[in-house]
Formats: sequence, C-alpha cells, structure tokens
Amino acid sequence: MEGKVAFVTGAARGQGRSHAVRLAEEGADIIAVDLCHDIDSIGYPLARPEDLEETAKLVEKTGRGIVTAQADVRDASQLHAALERGMSEFGKLDIVVAQAGVAGMAGEPPLQAWRDVIETNLFGTINAIHVALPHLKEGAAIIATGSTAALMDVGKKDNPGADPGAMAYITSKRLLSQFVNDLGTELAPRGIRPTSSTRRTATPICCRADRCTGLSAPISNTRPAPTPSRCSLSNRRCKSATSSPKTSATRAVAGLRRGQVRHRYAVESRRRRLPQVV
Ligand SMILES: NC(=O)c1ccc[n+]([C@@H]2O[C@H](COP(=O)([O-])OP(=O)(O)OC[C@H]3O[C@@H](n4cnc5c(N)ncnc54)[C@H](O)[C@@H]3O)[C@@H](O)[C@H]2O)c1
Repeated sequence: MEGKVAFVTGAARGQGRSHAVRLAEEGADIIAVDLCHDIDSIGYPLARPEDLEETAKLVEKTGRGIVTAQADVRDASQLHAALERGMSEFGKLDIVVAQAGVAGMAGEPPLQAWRDVIETNLFGTINAIHVALPHLKEGAAIIATGSTAALMDVGKKDNPGADPGAMAYITSKRLLSQFVNDLGTELAPRGIRPTSSTRRTATPICCRADRCTGLSAPISNTRPAPTPSRCSLSNRRCKSATSSPKTSATRAVAGLRRGQVRHRYAVESRRRRLPQVV
C-alpha cells in the first residue's frame, strides 16, 4: 500500500473507519467521506461529524495524510467534489473502498426505507465507483462491500410486505454483487480489479440487521452469488488479478461460448441451483 491513495466511503465509523486506518497503517493516504447525519427511515443513528474527525486523527497517527468530507453517497456531485479535493491534495487515486451502507427498517411512509436503502447501498456504491473511474489506472482496485444477505431466499420470509427496508437490503446487496461481477468484465481490459466482499462485524448496522426478521431468516438457498473472483473471464484478462479460485461454476462460465459446455452448465445449474447465465 506504500504510496497509494484510497477513497473510502462511510469512513466515519465501523468497517469504513477500520479500512481507512488499516490502509493508512500499510502506507496509503486516505480520502474519507461520510454522511455524518441520520436518514429518517433508517431507524438507528448514523455517524456524526466527530466520528469522521476521530477517523482523521487515527489515520494521522499512522503518519499518513487524510482529506475528509461530509458527503452523501446518494449524490454523485457531492462525492465528485469530495474526491476532487482529495485528488488536489494527493494527486492520484489507486483504491476505492465503496462501503457506505444502511439497513432500513421503518415502514412509514410506505417504501421510503426501501428507496433510501437502495439509493445508499446500490446507487451510492455505483456513484462512488463512477466518480473514481476516470482517475483509476492499471493495477487499481475497487472494493464494494456486499453482504451474505445477497444469498437469502426472500420467498421464505415470514412477514411479506412488513419490512421494506430489510427487503431493500437484500435486494441492494444482490444487485451490487451482480454489478461488481459485470464491472469486472468491463474493467478487465484496463487492468482494474473490482471485488465484492463482506465480513460480519459488530457495528450498529449489524445489530439492526439482527432484529430484522427478513435478515435473520436462515440462508436456505446457498446458491453462490456471482463475484469477480468466480468470473474467470475477468480474471484472465485482468492483469492486476492475483487469484482465481477454480470452482466448477468458474470453469463452466469460462466455456459458455461453446455449445456443449453451455448445455452442461444449464443442466448443472438446474441441479445445483447455480446462477443462470444466459
Ligand atoms: N457489520 C456487519 O456485520 C456487516 C455485514 C455485511 C455487510 N456489511 C456492510 O458493511 C458496510 C459498512 O457497514 P458497518 O458495519 O461499518 O456499519 P456502520 O453503520 O457502522 O457504518 C456505515 C457508515 O456509512 C455511513 N453512511 C450511511 N449512509 C451514508 C450515505 N448516504 N452517504 C455517506 N455515508 C453514509 C454511516 O454514517 C456510517 O458511518 C455496509 O455496506 C454494510 O452493509 C456489514
């Protein structure tokens, strides 16, 4: 990480702060953004300006530089302005950690939580990547924080219609996973590697999620969500990719252009509930 510059969203606390500080410990300068105020439909407090200041102090303690900005990931122009400030300080960008996220709960007004979660988790992540892309060069990395919620079977929900925020969380992470997978193919020729990752951590979002019936339902469908690491097409072309776990799904997807493999994949995917690739 020595000499690299990382753009981290949702950096005021939780995993975002942890990523920012760790990257700084490894030698990176940080451009850190966070909303730093609440969203009405979310039902638990988000970070405060003091939290972002604390992140800045912790990064500075490592000896690395940091530029902070209060910005809403739902608004690409705010992210653009924040990133430009960071760019004018550090002059380049190597890493994007697009991970600001919320787990909505409230049902009033109807579907507001659904909208706020989708706009933050999905469009907010796309916005962060989108404003960063013009600055990224070969070897750059994009990390979008996903969730195992993406694997949940919403058909097994006990209370359909009662929890639009939870449904939106699942939807947002599922679509995010698909987006990152497809982005891998698009960015492979430029040698830029997008990845979606997740780790369960005791943060406010996690505590809310535990109380949410939609998210605490057991994962009954273990179908793997597509990720770049499973996309051999992007790994093969992407010069910065370091590993490519060869699952049978990977091999099948790699050979999809050949009719026989395509047929075998279709049969296998029905049997094992692998993602449908058409
Ligand atoms: N904690 C877990 O166990 C867990 C599990 C799976 C995925 N995740 C994902 O990890 C990511 C980070 O979550 P966390 O656990 O650190 O939770 P957190 O609530 O502590 O941190 C989220 C941060 O994002 C910020 N944020 C929210 N909306 C924003 C917006 N519109 N614009 C800018 N910043 C905004 C918040 O202020 C907060 O600082 C999220 O994407 C979450 O979905 C967390």
